[in-house]
Amino acid sequence: MSIIVAPSVLSADFAHLGRDIDMLNSSEAEWIHIDVMDGVFVPNISFGFPVLQAVRKQTKKFCDVHLMIVHPEKYIKQFKEAGADNITIHYEGNLHLDSIIRDIKAQGISAGVALNPATPVSVLKEVITLIDVVLIMSVNPGFGGQKFIENALNKVKEAKLLIEQSGSKARIEVDGGVGMNNAADVIKAGAEILVAGNAVFATSDPVLTISQIKSLGTK
Ligand code: DX5
Ligand code: ZN
Repeated sequence: MSIIVAPSVLSADFAHLGRDIDMLNSSEAEWIHIDVMDGVFVPNISFGFPVLQAVRKQTKKFCDVHLMIVHPEKYIKQFKEAGADNITIHYEGNLHLDSIIRDIKAQGISAGVALNPATPVSVLKEVITLIDVVLIMSVNPGFGGQKFIENALNKVKEAKLLIEQSGSKARIEVDGGVGMNNAADVIKAGAEILVAGNAVFATSDPVLTISQIKSLGTK
């Protein structure tokens, strides 16, 4: 299976963001993961439109925007205009999930739904055929560099089953604590898109690490 590595900009050096994006441009990473946090939905504040716009200017890679904010429906158009190729929203706290998914699709871009570690995969049953990405959180969202929660592997398998049974074309993405030590298990469980922040940016050779994670998909 061909694996997409999606390095998370959250772990980049913001004083040298252009340099770090150029590094990703020269790598085998096909997606760039952009974590937007508002300090309300999660206990941390990251960045918003200006940073996404800056990344967009610097790359042609697929910009994967993960919204950890309340009321994402208010900002879908703005995130699209700032450069998002995919927008993933959380199931939690979004009462009108179907409607937000349709709003994202109406912008002509890909739509994902993320599930926190305590949220069962079964909540996606009624929307699974509408979405392009199922994002299984393998940490509680808010910070990079956290420890991978093993139960995420069971959830990936459940998501795979739900996708197969429903005929959905959604792909499974895993986010949080993913690195060389567990990427093979994550892929084996059924994930195609692997977010990696710390595991990429904290190594001495991020380009090589990206290549190594990606190559696990062909083994
Ligand atoms: C966590 C974010 C993740 C995070 C991943 O809330 O959604 O995307 O940046 O970072 P690592 O790979 O370091 O866990
Ligand atoms: Zn994320």
